[in-house]
Amino acid sequence: MDAPQPTSAKPILTLTVNPALDLSTWTERVVSGHKLRCGTSRLDPGGGGVNVARVVQRLGGHALAVYTAGGATGEAYRRLIESERVPTLVVPIQGSTRQNFTVDETATGEQFRFVLEGPELSDAEWRACLALVAESIPVGGYVVASGSLPPGVPEDFYARVARLAREREARCIVDASGPALAEALAEGVFMIKPSRRELGLHVGAVLDTEQSQVEAASALVADGSAEYVALTLGDAGAVLAARSGVLRLAVPAVRVVSTVGAGDSFVGAFVLRLAQGLPVDAAFRAGVAAGSATAMTPATELCHRADVERLEAELSAGAH
Ligand SMILES: Nc1ncnc2c1ncn2[C@@H]1O[C@H](COP(=O)(O)OP(=O)(O)OP(=O)(O)O)[C@@H](O)[C@H]1O
Ligand SMILES: [Mg+2]
Repeated sequence: MDAPQPTSAKPILTLTVNPALDLSTWTERVVSGHKLRCGTSRLDPGGGGVNVARVVQRLGGHALAVYTAGGATGEAYRRLIESERVPTLVVPIQGSTRQNFTVDETATGEQFRFVLEGPELSDAEWRACLALVAESIPVGGYVVASGSLPPGVPEDFYARVARLAREREARCIVDASGPALAEALAEGVFMIKPSRRELGLHVGAVLDTEQSQVEAASALVADGSAEYVALTLGDAGAVLAARSGVLRLAVPAVRVVSTVGAGDSFVGAFVLRLAQGLPVDAAFRAGVAAGSATAMTPATELCHRADVERLEAELSAGAH
C-alpha cells in the first residue's frame, strides 16, 4: 500500500492537448529495405501532462489529468490511463489521438523515436479544453501545461492557461518549446522546465557552457517571465534559477536504459514535492531523482517510487 499523502497537499491539475499512444518495441538492427522483425511491444498513454500525472500517482500523490481524446486510438488511450487509476477529465475531439513509436536497436543500444504531429483541433475543441481548465483549476494549487500543441491550437494557448491560473491564484508550470513557450513567458508563469535545446532556441544561443546556461535561465527569472527556471541537461543533471540564486545538481549514478519520459518525471516529482509543502531545493532534488529513475527503466516505462525515494535520499545526503 502507498503511504497516504498528507491531507495538506495542494491539488495539482495537468493539461495535455496533444497526448500520444506510445508504442514501443525493439529490433536487432534498423536497416532500410528489409522487414524489421520486432520483439515484444508495449503501449503507454503518453504525452507531457498525462505523464506528469502518472508520475505523481506513482509517487503516492494525486493529480487530475485533463486531456483530449478521439478515434479508436483515443479509446485505447482512455482504457490504458483508467487502468492506472489516474483521475482524468477528457475533452472529446473529432480527430484520432496520435501514436508515437519508439524502437530500441539491440545491436547498438541506439533508440529511435518517431513523433507524429497529432490531429488538428477545431476552434470549438481547444476552447472546450480551456473552458474545462478554467472550471477545474484548483484555487491555490498547481497547473502543469505540458507538451506540444497540435495543429489548430493557437500559439498563445499556454499563455491563456497561465492567465487562468493567475486568476485562480494557482501556480502554472509550463513544459513546452518554441512559440508556445515564448508566449507563456511573455504572460508570466511560476516555472518552466526547458531542456538545453529548448532554452537555447528561445534565447538564440547554443548554451554549451555552464555560465551561458546559468545566465540564460537567470535572465528569465530577473525579467519576471518565470519565478523558477529548471533547466534540465540530460546526463549532465540540471540547473535551477530562482530569485534567491542558482542551484545545480549532477545526476546520481544510475544504469541508463531508456530516458524517454525523463523530463516529465522531473516535472511530476518536482510539482508533487512542492504541493506537499517541501522547499524548492528538496523539490529540485526530487525532480532530478525521478528523471534519473526513469532513465533506469526500459522504453517508455516511467520511474518506480522506490528508486525515486532512494535517489532523493542520496542527493539529499550529498547536499549536507
Ligand atoms: N542519461 C541520463 N542519466 C541520468 N539521468 C538522466 C539522463 N537523462 C535524463 N536524466 C534525468 O532526467 C532529467 C530530465 O532529463 P532531460 O534533461 O533529458 O529532460 P527532457 O530533455 O525534457 O526529456 P524528455 O525527452 O522527456 O522531454 C535530468 O535532469 C536528469 O536528472
Ligand atoms: Mg522535455
